[in-house]
Amino acid sequence: MKPIYLDHAASTPVHLEVAEVMMKIMTEQLGNASSVHAFGRSAKKIINGARDAISSYLGCSPDEWVFTGGGTESDNLALFGAAHSRKGGHIITTAIEHHAVLHACEELEKEGYSITYLPVDQTGRVALKDLEAALRDDTFLISVMFANNEVGTVQPIEEIGRLAREKGILFHVDAVQALGSIPISLSSLPVDYMSFTAHKINGPQGIGGLYVRRGAPLHPRLYGGSQERGRRAGTENLAGAAGFAKAVELAAKGRAVRNEESLALRNRLLERLDQGIGQDSYKINGNAEHGLTHITNISFPGVRTDVMLMNLDMEGIAASSGSACTSGSLEISHVLRAMNLADDQLSSAIRFSTGLGNTSEEMEHVARKIETIFNRLRIKG
Ligand SMILES: Cc1ncc(COP(=O)(O)O)c(C=O)c1O
Repeated sequence: MKPIYLDHAASTPVHLEVAEVMMKIMTEQLGNASSVHAFGRSAKKIINGARDAISSYLGCSPDEWVFTGGGTESDNLALFGAAHSRKGGHIITTAIEHHAVLHACEELEKEGYSITYLPVDQTGRVALKDLEAALRDDTFLISVMFANNEVGTVQPIEEIGRLAREKGILFHVDAVQALGSIPISLSSLPVDYMSFTAHKINGPQGIGGLYVRRGAPLHPRLYGGSQERGRRAGTENLAGAAGFAKAVELAAKGRAVRNEESLALRNRLLERLDQGIGQDSYKINGNAEHGLTHITNISFPGVRTDVMLMNLDMEGIAASSGSACTSGSLEISHVLRAMNLADDQLSSAIRFSTGLGNTSEEMEHVARKIETIFNRLRIKG
């Protein structure tokens, strides 16, 4: 069997239609979108066409969309952009955010801002009462991710947003993992900033976007030209923007079918695991009711994460220990730790994330291989 890629939460394959759009631009379009000549004007048209298409799918106005170099940059732009529009103050975020948010918050803390990291329950969900209890007179920003990249848990974004609005507090949402799985309508969501990236939805790597509600403060991070209305200097990534727009279009049109398919793939994996190693041999980490269907985080107590991953890799199966940034090291994930899981659950968690190209036969094959590895290592151990 050919190698099986179950790490779509880390990055997805580029859709053929996206690659075609990009190839055409890379081979046929030249010029800088800031130039006034005909080449520049046609480049500008491509950027603005992509902006129009993405904003229309997300329900915002084109001037509320800022192209960035990806999800990390979008998160940083939102947090520093809001914080640097004022002096000092209090930010509330959660203990399970992506490092793009957590490490940005650590930097802001060094600059004198104070940060509260909200706890989550054992399924990775934030409680509104904890958020309310953390509010202070000087709280100016709340940053909560839409859906978690390691366990797939979806947060009560609308409720948090309503509370933020009521209190006059800015609200940033990292929607990097939610895009393509959860319908997003920015015209009705009470959100001020929302981060996105293309490579999680079969678009290219290195391009993302930040929604900035009209009127929300945003101090720029990059200085240079006046691209993106002065909010993000630098020559635009033409092919990337057009590829991103195509990926958003495909993701929006195919969402319902894709969610059904990923649920079926997950169910197949779990059914086969039940038959093979039995339900008592593994634990699912995440929220069954509020969760992304394509991310399934499973602990196999008794078999260490790195050992399982290495054995799967030798069988040609790519899974992950959580976020790509922590998978190179053997550190226990900050997300699972915040969920307060038992030690043997923490040290044996594997993230399987499905997407374009995965089949039911692959899931059966993966379950069989897990069974072999599990039985071999458990007997040895
Ligand atoms: C929730 C979340 N936020 C931000 C990022 C960073 O996005 P990018 O890889 O485009 O910088 C990721 C990527 O793994 C993510 O999962």
